[in-house]
Amino acid sequence: MLSPIDHYLQALHARLSDVTSGELASYIPELTKADPAWLGISIVTMDGVAYTVGDADQLFTIQSISKPFVYGMALADRGQENMAEKVGVEPSGDAFNSISLHPRTGAPLNPMINAGAIATTSLVAGRTTEAQWERIESSIATFVGHPVTVDESVYRSESATGHRNRAIAWMLKNFGIVEGEPMDSLENYFRQCAIQVSCRDLAYMAATLANGGVHPLTGRRALPTEHVGQVLSVMATCGMYDFAGSWLYEVGMPAKSGVGGGVIAVVPGRFGIAIFSPRLDAKGNSVRGIEACRHLSRDFGLHMFQQARDPRQALGRVYTGADASSRRKPAGPARQHLIDHAHRIKYLSLHGMLGVDGVEYVIRCMLGMAGDTDCFILDMNQVSGLAESAAQMLHEVRRALAADGKPVVCSRVHRRAAILQPLAKAARNLDRGFLVFEDNDLAVEWCENRLLQGLGATEELAVPLAESPLLRGFSDDLLRLMDTHMSTESYTAGDSILKAGEAGDGRIFFIETGRVSILVPLDDGGHQRISSLGPGMEFGEMTLLGQTQRTASVVADNDVRCRVLRVNDLERLAQQAPQAKILLLENLAKDLAVKLRGATQWIAALA
Ligand code: DON
Repeated sequence: MLSPIDHYLQALHARLSDVTSGELASYIPELTKADPAWLGISIVTMDGVAYTVGDADQLFTIQSISKPFVYGMALADRGQENMAEKVGVEPSGDAFNSISLHPRTGAPLNPMINAGAIATTSLVAGRTTEAQWERIESSIATFVGHPVTVDESVYRSESATGHRNRAIAWMLKNFGIVEGEPMDSLENYFRQCAIQVSCRDLAYMAATLANGGVHPLTGRRALPTEHVGQVLSVMATCGMYDFAGSWLYEVGMPAKSGVGGGVIAVVPGRFGIAIFSPRLDAKGNSVRGIEACRHLSRDFGLHMFQQARDPRQALGRVYTGADASSRRKPAGPARQHLIDHAHRIKYLSLHGMLGVDGVEYVIRCMLGMAGDTDCFILDMNQVSGLAESAAQMLHEVRRALAADGKPVVCSRVHRRAAILQPLAKAARNLDRGFLVFEDNDLAVEWCENRLLQGLGATEELAVPLAESPLLRGFSDDLLRLMDTHMSTESYTAGDSILKAGEAGDGRIFFIETGRVSILVPLDDGGHQRISSLGPGMEFGEMTLLGQTQRTASVVADNDVRCRVLRVNDLERLAQQAPQAKILLLENLAKDLAVKLRGATQWIAALA
């Protein structure tokens, strides 16, 4: 079924098809071979979905749209300060092929006009022009998400006729802006302009900039985050040449056009947009491309200066350790203590791209809850990125709360650089920073342990068999009799006690001392801990219900001693004392009911 976005794009395509003004670029003879009727529109979301309409897969040459991307490469290779000496960032208000150089230094005013772009191409890393070309080609491919090729006939056509650009390149050499052989760099520039892309490809390139430099589908980084804002700024002020002011005023998106008929526009954190229609206006911008962006900006409210953000969006659900406890099941007094105090653990589920505004709100809420809280867990699962300033604020509040005896930990960061890097940078010179847990279960268990500190290390004491939940209601005689049918097994930390998938051998384990983790295998070969059990708890009991295959693995966390009952021995015992089996099964049914209730609560808390 088509989405409403598809319907919108189809209507826009139909409306723009009637616009027939503008001319094909003819100063590169090969470009006149384009079909003037071609029209493609593509929008890519931050999770990598492409909406397309019309000629979105028709290949054409990227031309000037390559300029901001190559500028990004040069920034990454040379650093912003070195680049500033060679190429400025001032809008020229002149045409794309103008010779707008700084009167004293000869530095081109910006990297979007040809002079700045030729200089930029010459500054990309590489010991030879061939190596520089490889860097340009492979980096553009990372932005697109697949390898790219050059339209050799367009390249040759421009190289044969591009005398004005040749003059510009020599002038740049004269001012010492181009360091090497200017004609070699110029050929690289012509080749980069002749890279073939589709409208869909361009939308992914724009989306990669919108997504902080990471391709939304491949997940590969095409540009370091710190240069994304710089590239988008020159696109916003210079990307549409002598139309840039009106463009920003009306459409309000960083953009870039090319004489091949492409236009890209970037809505940071939201969309990459591309339009392909080869009829150009007098300034060299696609007529329908501009018109399409006008509509999209107005209809979808994309103008960058007309964005209202509600900081409350940064915070999703807030719940407590009482709503969702860890899967570790303590016994004895520890259990009661957690029942009484688990509400003092607070989970905060954070959302989206966290800036100072959102984090200010989150911190305000945390401070409001602090009186009633012993530990905070910041669940980062839904966070797409974190501004450095926001990371700094989080560290500051973490340190202040820690000084008050209230730790703040993070969970589910999933090794994402967009979160870890700003956190690490902000923590520098402070301390070891946030404690980060793989999942909420481990985070809440850590918090529960904090709550239990001071209660005494109850788990180091052996818990007698009589306290096992599965043996509730057993008389002393019955327990003694059962004990004679059991054996003892001991394990050390890391020992595998049971393996998921193995045939069950009918053993039921009653933990006397130590702790075990119950792990289920995941598709990717890893494991998820579903539970952690200590003294007085049992495992393997599903074998009582006739389960023949172990569904989970059990690993010893430390030194573990268990009493073990085999189902065959239970059958022998049941012949002597049938009520032993009846009681065991009754208790098992009650425990399963409790587990089911717990699972339902988790699902409700996460919904
Ligand atoms: O330098 C040139 O003339 C071209 N190869 C690129 C110019 C271009 O795309 C201008 N943009 N609208």
